[in-house]
Amino acid sequence: MKTYKIAAIPADGIGPEVIAAGLQALEALARRDGGFRLDVTKFDWGSARYKKTGALMPEDGTEQLKAFDAIFFGAVGAPDVPDHVTLWGLRLPICQGFDQYANVRPTKILPGISSPLAGVKTGDLDWVIVRENSEGEYSGHGGRAHKGLPEEVGTEVSIFTRVGVTRIMRYAFALAQARPRKFLTVVTKSNAQRFGMVMWDEIAAEVATEFPDVKWDKMLVDAMTVRMVRAPRSLDTIVATNLHADILSDLAGALAGSLGVAPTGNIDPERRFPSMFEPIHGSAFDITGKGIANPVATFWTAAQMLEHLGEKDAADRLMRSVENVCASGIMTPDVNGTATTQQVTDAVCEAIRSENI
Ligand SMILES: NC(=O)c1ccc[n+]([C@@H]2O[C@H](COP(=O)([O-])OP(=O)(O)OC[C@H]3O[C@@H](n4cnc5c(N)ncnc54)[C@H](O)[C@@H]3O)[C@@H](O)[C@H]2O)c1
Repeated sequence: MKTYKIAAIPADGIGPEVIAAGLQALEALARRDGGFRLDVTKFDWGSARYKKTGALMPEDGTEQLKAFDAIFFGAVGAPDVPDHVTLWGLRLPICQGFDQYANVRPTKILPGISSPLAGVKTGDLDWVIVRENSEGEYSGHGGRAHKGLPEEVGTEVSIFTRVGVTRIMRYAFALAQARPRKFLTVVTKSNAQRFGMVMWDEIAAEVATEFPDVKWDKMLVDAMTVRMVRAPRSLDTIVATNLHADILSDLAGALAGSLGVAPTGNIDPERRFPSMFEPIHGSAFDITGKGIANPVATFWTAAQMLEHLGEKDAADRLMRSVENVCASGIMTPDVNGTATTQQVTDAVCEAIRSENI
């Protein structure tokens, strides 16, 4: 039997609630499948650790994680710690330290969930957003000078490299090629940003020649928000910079019904390091501890993790079970249901156990 070593980092807010739910579903799947087991190690890294020790994770944190096949991550962020401290103290060091340069964000309207877009139903919105995850606007280059004085200056430099843009374009074109519509939309802002973004467009056109069977088009990011709302059926696979895709994928999650159903995989396509799987949402302070966090995003990212590990059948079983449970109306309040996190989790585990396939 295969054993996968999983590092679970529930971290903050509703992170521990949804990761507990995800681990229950994964355990049910492993039992049902019989061909693999998961050896899960939990890490108590996060804001509570920061308040005690001054660091969200130990200095050798990424070194410790190297021993794992995948990382299962909750959310990081606390009301009394600045957001840039939590993000740069835990999530970004893992993504960037492990060169997880492809951030993959599937979105569709699950059965039983309604989109806020009138007349848009299951099947009408089926996208995968590929976010460049290693550079761009989140390269961490910049600084502040003359702090607090009237002449204070702050810079935030976006870095685009030929290597970085080429590899994310190749990843996105290959993903588009593997999907039935073979269609990619490249998001840009090359009208206003004349250097990095123009290079981004040029490299997209170069890489496109390697994928002659993939149709592609280009959208300015501002117009893209309109197209996502007005013509969701016209989109399939989408590639965008770190910042643009960050924003567009929150919009995508909301259009698919809730941030609580939106998953993401931070992938190292070369498999030099463990990849990291997490729901898109954050700590959700407003519902922490209430037992009503939607676990569906975490189930979906668990399915992404299983597929990455080579367990496609188990991943498909998990998604079928989630879709059946949503279709039956067992859902949390963010998607107009009345169920608790635990009730949804129990229903998904029961669907996994009782499925007749
Ligand atoms: N990847 C991450 O760890 C990550 C991502 C985004 C935000 N954050 C952090 O989380 C904190 C809160 O950020 P925010 O409020 O902007 O975003 P958020 O995603 O935490 O919450 C936004 C809204 O969506 C709702 N929501 C989110 N997930 C839900 C779920 N599973 N079920 C039901 N409702 C859900 C929340 O209740 C809230 O109303 C901040 O500290 C922020 O920095 C972390």
